[in-house]
Amino acid sequence: MSPSEPSAVTEAQARHEVETLRQQLRHHNHRYYVLDDPEVPDAEYDRLFQRLKALETQFPALLSSDSPTQRVGGEAMSAFSTVMHEVPMLSLDNVFSAEEFADFDRRVRDRLGDLLGQGGDLFSQPVLAYCCEPKLDGLAISLVYENGVLIRGATRGDGVTGEDITHNVRTIPSVPLRLAGDALPALLEVRGEVLMSKKGFLKLNEQQTAKGEKTFVNPRNAAAGSLRQLDPRMTAQRPLEFYAYSVVRCEGVKLPGSQYETLQKLATFGFRLSKEIRRAEGEAEVQAFYADIQQRRDSLPYEIDGVVIKVDNVRWQQELGFVSRAPRWATAYKFPAQEAVTTIQSIEFQVGRTGALTPVARLAPVFVGGVTVSNATLHNFDEIERMDVRVGDSVVIYRAGDVIPKVVRVMTERRPEGTQPVALPTRCPVCDSEVERPEDEAIARCTGGLFCPAQQKEALKHFVSRRAMDIEGLGDKWIEQLVDLKLIKSSADLYTLQKDMLLPLERMGEKSADNLLAAIAASKNSTLPRFLYALGIREVGEATALLLSRHFGSLEKIMAADEAALMQVQDVGPVVAESIALFFRQPHNLEVIAALRAAGVSWPDMEALGERPQPLAGQTWVLTGSLATMSRDQAKEKLQQLGAKVSGSVSKKTHCVVAGEAAGSKLADAEKLGVAVMDEAAFQQLLQEHGL
Ligand code: IVH
Repeated sequence: MSPSEPSAVTEAQARHEVETLRQQLRHHNHRYYVLDDPEVPDAEYDRLFQRLKALETQFPALLSSDSPTQRVGGEAMSAFSTVMHEVPMLSLDNVFSAEEFADFDRRVRDRLGDLLGQGGDLFSQPVLAYCCEPKLDGLAISLVYENGVLIRGATRGDGVTGEDITHNVRTIPSVPLRLAGDALPALLEVRGEVLMSKKGFLKLNEQQTAKGEKTFVNPRNAAAGSLRQLDPRMTAQRPLEFYAYSVVRCEGVKLPGSQYETLQKLATFGFRLSKEIRRAEGEAEVQAFYADIQQRRDSLPYEIDGVVIKVDNVRWQQELGFVSRAPRWATAYKFPAQEAVTTIQSIEFQVGRTGALTPVARLAPVFVGGVTVSNATLHNFDEIERMDVRVGDSVVIYRAGDVIPKVVRVMTERRPEGTQPVALPTRCPVCDSEVERPEDEAIARCTGGLFCPAQQKEALKHFVSRRAMDIEGLGDKWIEQLVDLKLIKSSADLYTLQKDMLLPLERMGEKSADNLLAAIAASKNSTLPRFLYALGIREVGEATALLLSRHFGSLEKIMAADEAALMQVQDVGPVVAESIALFFRQPHNLEVIAALRAAGVSWPDMEALGERPQPLAGQTWVLTGSLATMSRDQAKEKLQQLGAKVSGSVSKKTHCVVAGEAAGSKLADAEKLGVAVMDEAAFQQLLQEHGL
């Protein structure tokens, strides 16, 4: 049941629940607003808040003026002097789905009624223009300017009184100390968000670690902690940014009648605005804005937790007015929460390709980031020890985009009695070999090597993968069965498979068996870089495999090279060199390689290929968007044949960006950094010029 649906409770039951919810919300308010140390993710707070609101709506007799739904925040800390806000700093109501936003739009249009009808023709439904902004995940502040000079900066506090943080605000580079332009207002009060960019946050945490000081959980907490320093010199060292999003008082200058244009006016005064702000005509355009930003969320420079949609016409905003804590003319259209609280049911260890034991937490299923999650990674045993996570614990988990969900924090304050610290298994859970964990490493490994079925499976999955031997149709499920039935152990065994061995597999038909055998046979024609990568040598990824192949020209030479010779190759340092040399010293590996070659796995001579001129040697190229005439992998391979390094992100060192259809943020990055951009036609021409 959604928290806002009416529930089948009696008034007496509701009274009890309402009291409990208010207590919890007051507690969380205090942690969040006064101590800057929230105990639960926003989503959990929102859930309690929505539930309380729903009960108060269902039983109006239970409403009271001191309910957390009837006010804005917490109390100000006494260490800063307090200031009154001339215009209260209110909050926003939330919507969480397309339907809820459509309802909001309908309500606003109904309320505006005739006003909105003016100008539209008789038959068409009048649409409403909105100013669409990202909902920046930082802290709201208010800035007051007299005759163009900054005289006060204040936090939101409880919305009516806040803390005077003028001395700190002055240290933020994006806060103008004096407004730009000639026609300046006698008085201007601007509201906006102080935040820390994702980059700034990572850097700050690195510095904190280097100094042996405590790191911050997320950019929002880091910004809050930095803004509320009593010593402004501390604040000055923190990478804070200010983005303006509204004007609440202005005297002496006439502002435009639209929110969107008012923001543009603020930009001329010298304020920073989010680059994502757009005007939308009607509900459908707002939905498109929301979907677009949600999709690009991870590549934005700062964290956002939704978008804010405001009626653009300022006169209509005044017409619509406010209800208790929030304006009727705006709403926060939130993304699905990326954090949630759940409990750990068990902790298991998975064995990877190189034997590394990865602890995985099995969770009570919870809805987060738009999907139901029941597993989360704990990375390695160090992480378990660092967090002291235990079975039975309540934990905060985080899931964003396609990222594997992870446990970010243990709520030790909720730990049940009798829990035990997690012990590192002494034997591999799959093959029972000993587990070793070198003193200076975070990673524990199964010592079973390729005798461990888990490692066999992972090594095989890697061997057949698209960028390695590219054996189409040989998915994880088949590999697991083949290993479990002891039909294969190593990659070389793949080439000994016969049709009658495959047919007994679950859901394997005549036709798929034929296809599979054909794909395995086809993979015998390979290239040296692919083969080398497919071997799964620790530390040797695709790029290193390519460099090694180019440098040595043949497998024999790579196998014969000692560490010193290997380190002659670009990007190969002592760790990589040691790993390669070690791999080729293992008799088992040599046997498998010999068997693969005996089965007919081969590749064209690299020395012959190497004669191709490499006009792009030493250059870094980036691909973005989709190309009509080739896949991204094909484009990458061609660029590499010409000697270029292909990277996933644009920097000042990038030589050129190839931009296909629907190119996104990388194209914008290139334009910002002044990096050359090439379209598909020009790219085609370049390839042709070099005979590709
Ligand atoms: S307008 C009366 N615009 O969201 C309306 N708020 O619950 C005042 N926020 O703490 C808010 N980005 O700090 C507005 N573009 C934006 C915003 C924004 C983030 C925050 C704001 C406040 C919360 C509203």
